[in-house]
Amino acid sequence: MPCPGKVVQLAPGVHWVGVEDWYRRSFDAVMDLPFGSSYNAFLVQGKDKSALIDTVHRPFCEEFLGKLRRLIDLSRLDFVVMNHAEPDHSGCIPAILEAAPGAKLLASEKGIEMARSYYHIDDGRLAAVADNSLLDLGGKTLKFIYSPWLHWPETMFTFLAEERILFTCDFFGAHLASDRLFAEEVSALVVNEAKLYYAVIMMPYAKMAANGLDRSLALQPAVVAPSHGPVWRDPAEIFKAYESWIRGKLLPKAIVAYATMWGSTKKLADAAAASLSDNGIETVPFDLAVTDLAKLARDMVDSSAVLVGSPTVLGSVHPLAGNALTMLKMIRPRAKIGAILGSFGWSGGAAAQVKTVFDALKIETLDTLDVKGTPLPADLDRASELGSKVADSIRAGLA
Ligand code: FEO
Repeated sequence: MPCPGKVVQLAPGVHWVGVEDWYRRSFDAVMDLPFGSSYNAFLVQGKDKSALIDTVHRPFCEEFLGKLRRLIDLSRLDFVVMNHAEPDHSGCIPAILEAAPGAKLLASEKGIEMARSYYHIDDGRLAAVADNSLLDLGGKTLKFIYSPWLHWPETMFTFLAEERILFTCDFFGAHLASDRLFAEEVSALVVNEAKLYYAVIMMPYAKMAANGLDRSLALQPAVVAPSHGPVWRDPAEIFKAYESWIRGKLLPKAIVAYATMWGSTKKLADAAAASLSDNGIETVPFDLAVTDLAKLARDMVDSSAVLVGSPTVLGSVHPLAGNALTMLKMIRPRAKIGAILGSFGWSGGAAAQVKTVFDALKIETLDTLDVKGTPLPADLDRASELGSKVADSIRAGLA
């Protein structure tokens, strides 16, 4: 349930002052959020100085400022650390800088540019911090670690050295509202939601994610505190999950994503999916008229193959399949095995467009089945053979 006044102590002088957004149902118009989200922010109070790490989404500014005022006289707040400029974390920066007139906004060099352009902050309130630089608050030392593209070019982590708490903003995050702050107190949904978040937000920058994971591991944090979802008091579980998503072996798994108008492409997709499944491959179908593309992205994190089905519509790929292909281009999956299914009435075209995307992603098109009109039993047999061929290729690749 919503807890508007809640603050949570992570360590002496370190408090969560974030908010839960229980009823948010979409993010960036690309992710459905069945479990809402949260925007985590943290107040670190040293003997001499105090720093706020991140803020929250603008609709929650009043609630957020109320929480802060329970812990500190805002006229004595010295720093606001902006790990990331996206409005879900920085939307309340103008409000906090107004309420805390002595506070400076600290960010990466790129972050400072974004603070100017997004939030119109005067230069006199801004100070850039260098990668690996330190800030002593009096018995509490903040280290700033640049982590570009996790999720925007300006992003950075902040490490509280004495308590070994790593504040990673989006990295290691999950869209999940809970009245419990710590991962071990929250249901088993956390890792699955973190995987969906990784798929859409981090997988497009897999090299940077690997770098972010390595830098995080090297710090040996006792606590990992992202700015969405639960805080990890035992980070081993989320580290292990990220390790598998970034560098682990792909699974004997395929997704079959299709759009259909009169059922012909669906028949082909179903036959291919059944064959894959019968051949021992975990197979996840996605009817693109009903699926959430973020879920497709999550299953692409560890899938070895992707089959895309689309009828030809006005000489083109069906718009729903086009959306799925756009998502594939965005997330840049590791799968390198592909196959194409489709149907057409009088002239094709969709299959070639799917192949163009596969080529751009360096996905090998093992087979293409494009059927004129309604599939006959022989066409379904061919779809089944296509599934079998993909299964063989997956097994060979994993051997
Ligand atoms: Fe949660 Fe990239 O903002």
